[in-house]
Amino acid sequence: MNAPADAGHDPAADRPGAARIRLEGIRKRYPDGTEAVRELSLEIAAGELVVLIGPSGCGKSTVLRMINRLIEPSGGRILLGDTDVTHADPVELRRRIGYVIQNVGLFPHQTVATNVGTVPRLLGWPKERTRRRVDELLDVVGLDPAQFGRRYPHELSGGQRQRVGVARALAADPVVLLMDEPFSAVDPIVRTRLQEEFLRLQAEVRKTIVLVTHDLDEAVRLGDRIAVLSEGGRLEQYDTPAALLGAPATPFVREFVGADRGIRRLAVTPVARETLDPLPADGADLPTVALGSSAYDALAVMLAAAVDRVLVSEDGRPVGTLTRHRLLTPEPPA
Ligand SMILES: Nc1ncnc2c1ncn2[C@@H]1O[C@H](COP(=O)(O)OP(=O)(O)OP(=O)(O)O)[C@@H](O)[C@H]1O
Ligand SMILES: [Mg+2]
Repeated sequence: MNAPADAGHDPAADRPGAARIRLEGIRKRYPDGTEAVRELSLEIAAGELVVLIGPSGCGKSTVLRMINRLIEPSGGRILLGDTDVTHADPVELRRRIGYVIQNVGLFPHQTVATNVGTVPRLLGWPKERTRRRVDELLDVVGLDPAQFGRRYPHELSGGQRQRVGVARALAADPVVLLMDEPFSAVDPIVRTRLQEEFLRLQAEVRKTIVLVTHDLDEAVRLGDRIAVLSEGGRLEQYDTPAALLGAPATPFVREFVGADRGIRRLAVTPVARETLDPLPADGADLPTVALGSSAYDALAVMLAAAVDRVLVSEDGRPVGTLTRHRLLTPEPPA
C-alpha cells in the first residue's frame, strides 16, 4: 500500500471540500511505554464516512488525535490528499480538520455562537462573515440561531450540546471531520435522531469523516466502511457493514459483532438481482417488494403474509422471486 514518496497528484485523493486520508504504518508509544498503536495502515476515500470501533483502550482516540497531530505519532506517515502532514505545522493542519471530541468539549464560558465561530475567528474571517456562517450552521444542525446563539453550554440539553459540537467542527468548511464518540452522551432515542440528522447532513456536505464509537448499531447505521480494532490498534477487519456482519474475518470480529449480527446484516443488505430466482410460471399470487429494499423488509413481508418467497419488482414490474432460504444465507466471503 505504501505509495512512493514522489508520487504525483492522484486525482482520487481529493474532491471539492474533502480529502482522502491515508495512514501508513502509524505507531504510538506513550512516554510511559504504553504501546497504544503498534502499527496501523488504513485508507479512507475522500467523502467517505469510516467508523473506528473496538473495545475500550484499543487505541481509537489515539488514532484520531494522531490524524490532527494533537498527539505526535512515534512512527509512520499520515497523508491528507497527497500531502504528508506528519511534519506539517499542527496549528495550520487543525484548521483544515474539524474535531468533535469525546464528551463534546464546548468552551463553558463562551456562548453557543462564540463556540461555533471559534475556527473562523482563528482564521481571521471578518466579523460579519463569521456571524453569517454561525447562523447558517446552527440552522443546519436544527438549532434556531436567534434562540440558541446567546445561550451558554450549561443552558442546553445533552443532545443540543452535541449539535453545537458538530456545528463548531464544520464551521470553517474543513476537508476532514474527526468525531470521537459524538453521540455517546445522549439517550438512545435522541441518539437515533441525531444519527439520522447527521446522515442527512453528510449527504449534503460529503466530508471525509472518521468517527469513533463503542456502539455497533451506530457503526452499522452510519459507516460506509467500518474498521474493527483490537488492543494495540490492531486492524482486525476493514469492510462495509454488510460484509463485516456477513463474513467476520477473525474470531475477534465474530465475537465482537456477536449474536445479533444476522438481523443487523439484513437491515443493511439490499435485495440484489443476483439473489433472485426466475418468476414462477403459474404467476403465483405473492406479495411484492422492490429491488433494492432491505432484506430485513423483505423478510418482514414474508412473515406478515406467512409465505416463504416474494416477488421482486423493478420500476413496478416483477423481475424475479426471492426465497426465504436465500435471504437468510449470507453471501460467501469474497
Ligand atoms: N497520555 C497517555 N499516556 C500513557 N498511556 C496513554 C495515554 N493516553 C492513552 N493511553 C493509553 O493508550 C491506550 C489507548 O488509549 P485510547 O484513549 O486511544 O483508547 P480508546 O480506544 O479511545 O478507549 P475508549 O474507548 O475507552 O475511549 C490505553 O491503554 C490508554 O491507557
Ligand atoms: Mg477514546
